[in-house]
Amino acid sequence: TSTSPGQAYLLALDQGTSSSRSIVFDSRGGIVAMAQRELPQIYPQPGWVEHDAMEIWRGQLATAQEALKKAGIAAKDVAAIGITNQRETAVLWNRKTGQPIHHAIVWQDRRGEPLCAQLREQGKASLIQQRTGLIVDSYFSGTKIRWLLDNVPGARAQAERGELAFGTIDSWLLWQLTGGALHATDVSNASRTMLFDVHRNQWDEELLALLQVPASLMPKVLPSSADYGRTVETLLGAPVRIGGVAGDQQSALFGQACLREGMAKNTYGTGCFLLMHTGGRFQKSANGLVTTSAAQLDATPQYALEGSVFVAGAVVQWLRDGLKAIENSAQVEALAASVPDAGGVMLVPAFTGLGAPYWQPDARGTITGLTRGSTVAHVARAALESIAFQSAALLQAMGRDAAAAGAAPVAELRVDGGACVNNLLMQFQADLLGIPVVRPAVTETTALGAAYLAGLAAGVYAGPEELQSQWRAERRFTPTLPRDRAQELMQRWEHAVRQATVA
Ligand code: G3P
Repeated sequence: TSTSPGQAYLLALDQGTSSSRSIVFDSRGGIVAMAQRELPQIYPQPGWVEHDAMEIWRGQLATAQEALKKAGIAAKDVAAIGITNQRETAVLWNRKTGQPIHHAIVWQDRRGEPLCAQLREQGKASLIQQRTGLIVDSYFSGTKIRWLLDNVPGARAQAERGELAFGTIDSWLLWQLTGGALHATDVSNASRTMLFDVHRNQWDEELLALLQVPASLMPKVLPSSADYGRTVETLLGAPVRIGGVAGDQQSALFGQACLREGMAKNTYGTGCFLLMHTGGRFQKSANGLVTTSAAQLDATPQYALEGSVFVAGAVVQWLRDGLKAIENSAQVEALAASVPDAGGVMLVPAFTGLGAPYWQPDARGTITGLTRGSTVAHVARAALESIAFQSAALLQAMGRDAAAAGAAPVAELRVDGGACVNNLLMQFQADLLGIPVVRPAVTETTALGAAYLAGLAAGVYAGPEELQSQWRAERRFTPTLPRDRAQELMQRWEHAVRQATVA
C-alpha cells in the first residue's frame, strides 16, 4: 500500500507483552508502515514477572514516531489513534509527578495467588464470577493492585489521600499521551481487573472493598470507541485525536469483524486466545471459560466467552531450544509434514500446568504413544497438533456453554497470530473442529481492531457494517477428515491429558 493525498490514516499502538508496535493503516485496513521494539522482561523471583512502565511508554512513543516517518505522513494526516494492549498488567503511578511507584506487575505474575486462595476460602468465587464473569485467579489485575498497596512503602497512605492512579497499560499510555489530562480505560480492559461489574459497566464498590482497593485509584471507564482526548502536541508534531481503546484479545475479535453472537476467533501466539462473541448475552461458563466484555461502541454491554491455552507456539520454541529438533521455528512445518501423521504419538505441552478448560496448575508435559518406530518427526508433528487439540478442546467447551444457553454453535473459526501461517496446523485444526478455519487477508487483526475502533469514533467509517464488508478471507481450510475419526483423535487427546495430570 502506498500513501495518497486526501487519504485518512489510522495509527494503531499495539503494546504487547514482549514488544511495543505501531502500525499505520489506510482506511481500507491496508498496512502502510510498521515499527516495533522489544520490551525487556524483569523476573525478580520465580513466578514473578514485571515491566518497567516508563520503558513501555518511551518504547511505544518511539515506535509511533518511527511508523509515521516510515509511512511518510505527518501527525495531521492521522484521523485517529487506537490503542490496544497486553491486558491485566497493573501500574500504579503518582498523579502529580506521573512517575510509577513500582514496576508494572505483568499478567503472567503469580504473586497474588495467596490472596486468591483466601478469596476462594471465603466463598467469594461465585459472587466474583456473577459480577465480573471471571474465575478467581492472580492472572487478573485485582490482587496485583492489592499487592502494590500492601508492599510498596507509603503506597496505601498515598492512595487514601487520592494521590495515586491505577491503570492497565492502555490507561497508562492514555495518561502519558494526553499529558495527564485523561485517566481512563475502556470496558474490555476494565473487565479484566476482577473489580468491574460487567452488567452495569461500573467499578464494583463491594469488590473494591473486598480487595481493599480505594475507588479514588480507578480510571473513568468509556466505551471502546469514544472520545479519548488528544495527544500532547510535542509528542507527534501535532495533536492527534485518540478514538479507540481495547484489550488485545477483544481488539483482535473486533479486527476479525466478529461482531455478532456466535462468531469466534483464535489467536495463535506464544499461547492461544480463543474468543466467541455472545452479543448482549452474559453467559456464565459451566465449562472452565471466562466471560469478558467485548469491545463496545456505546454504553450497551457486549460480551464474549474466552479460553486461553498457556503453551501453543511456545511448544515450537521448545522443539528448537529444548529438544534441538529444529534450528529455527519455520522448519517445524517441513519436519512435521515429512510423516503422514503423528504415528499415534500425543504430546501434551503442560509445561506450566494446563489452562482452560482443564485448569490443572500441577499438570506437566507428557508424551504418550511412543513405539520403536517413532521418530523426531512424529514428535514434531504431535507438538504442532497439540496446538490444535488444545484449541479444539476450548471450542468444544464453548459449544457446550452455547448449547446450554440454547444458542447456535460456532460456524467457522477465524484465525490470526504468528502460527496461523502454518498451513499444516490450520488444516489439522479444521479437521478436528469439523468447521472451516478461515485466515484473513490482514492477519494483524489486533492492531486493525484498534484502528477500526478509532476510525469509527473519528467518522472514517459510517458504522460496523462497513467493517464487516471490508473483512476479506485469504484462505479457507475446510475439514476433510471423517467426523468419527476426528472424535477418536479427540478422545485420544483427552486420554493423554489425563496422563499429564496424574500426580
Ligand atoms: O491476557 C493477556 C493478553 O492480553 C496478552 O497478550 O499478545 O501480549 O501476549 P500478548
